[in-house]
Amino acid sequence: MQTLHVDLAERSYPIHIGRGLLSKPELILPHLKRKQVAIVTNTTVAPLYLEKIAAPLKEAGVSVIPIILPDGEAYKNSATLNLIYDALLENRCERNTTVIALGGGVIGDLAGYAAATFLRGVPFIQVPTTLLSQVDSSVGGKTGINHPLGKNMIGAFYQPQVVLADIDTLSTLPQRELSAGLAEVIKYGLIRDRAFFDWQEINMPQLLALETAAMSYAIYRSCENKAEVVGRDERESGERALLNLGHTFGHAIENAMGYGVWLHGEAVAAGTMLAADLSRRLGWLSAVDIERMLAIFKAAKLPVDAPALGVDRYLDLMGLDKKVVDGHIRLVLQQGIGQSVVSSEYDPALLKETLLSPHERVSALCSRPRAHARPFAPRVTSCHAQSLSA
Ligand code: NAD
Ligand code: GLY
Repeated sequence: MQTLHVDLAERSYPIHIGRGLLSKPELILPHLKRKQVAIVTNTTVAPLYLEKIAAPLKEAGVSVIPIILPDGEAYKNSATLNLIYDALLENRCERNTTVIALGGGVIGDLAGYAAATFLRGVPFIQVPTTLLSQVDSSVGGKTGINHPLGKNMIGAFYQPQVVLADIDTLSTLPQRELSAGLAEVIKYGLIRDRAFFDWQEINMPQLLALETAAMSYAIYRSCENKAEVVGRDERESGERALLNLGHTFGHAIENAMGYGVWLHGEAVAAGTMLAADLSRRLGWLSAVDIERMLAIFKAAKLPVDAPALGVDRYLDLMGLDKKVVDGHIRLVLQQGIGQSVVSSEYDPALLKETLLSPHERVSALCSRPRAHARPFAPRVTSCHAQSLSA
């Protein structure tokens, strides 16, 4: 087992990464204020892993309340959130009851928001069981639900007490979900860790084959990157926005296609290629780098062609993004592999070109000369990535 720390003063916590962690109650017990936990999970994960984590806790004298929700992004909403509150109240849970999220990012975001708001806040533990949730959503304290008008629009920053990323759980993950998680792994390389990106290019077959050494390294390095960024900018006043590479486009795709039709990681991959398209039009990204980006997403079995929603629909949905300031859509753009910036200083006409028939444009990018290339001097409104230290 390897352990990392998210350093946030009194809200600091460990991230344990390894095999067989669900059956190690000693990793959970020290964090309980009362020997009562509510385990929030779903109908897919419960038959696979609920007893694995619950039985050893019960043996240690912990009272376990299972809360089993319907499965899917379409259920990440206020109605499902209410089911959690109902169960917590029916079971007379108290301020010292710990909520444990057992599942992917949907369960983590829902359970975390319930923990943040039930009785104005109860302790919370993340036990992520998808690759995406192990490398991203379980770390950093973003919790929340979707609104019909926009993705993740209601939520809270609420840090867990501990994160247990048990690699064994990935063995039951469908291939498509594994690939969706790889989109967020690739993201860290692209925004701030070029050496990690280089490593991924070589090790993608091992990651797809779930080889333990490669997967452990990918999860550790991803969490290390995320912990560093979150430690410096917990509430996204600057650098943390870089973690949203591809997300402004991606959230628009998720919403427009219907929550759950495109997986979050798939939408992020196609959205990242739209960000790359715009970066290329701005003259910030070379043809070689964009080719490497296309190649790695394809190697991870991810879509690179965003749906053609129409420019107006894209702009309408992107205008709801949480990074919008004074009506301007700020985007995470690429200056190369391992270097991202947050900027609203782009020509809106170029963004419209990117959004016009994106599925045709992205694929054509590699062969086309830079029609709008400008000297490399982006004006950046927010921040640059700082690469992984140590
Ligand atoms: P998910 O939670 O929907 O899980 C994907 C599917 O895999 C589900 O059907 C789930 O039941 C199933 N599953 C989970 N673990 C399994 C296992 N071990 N074996 C078999 N099946 C398993 O999707 P996700 O990709 O984990 O998370 C996506 C969500 O995370 C989105 O809602 C996204 O907005 C959110 N997210 C949040 C953050 C954050 O910082 N809070 C970051 C990134 C993404
Ligand atoms: N997934 C983006 C963030 O946690 O900030």
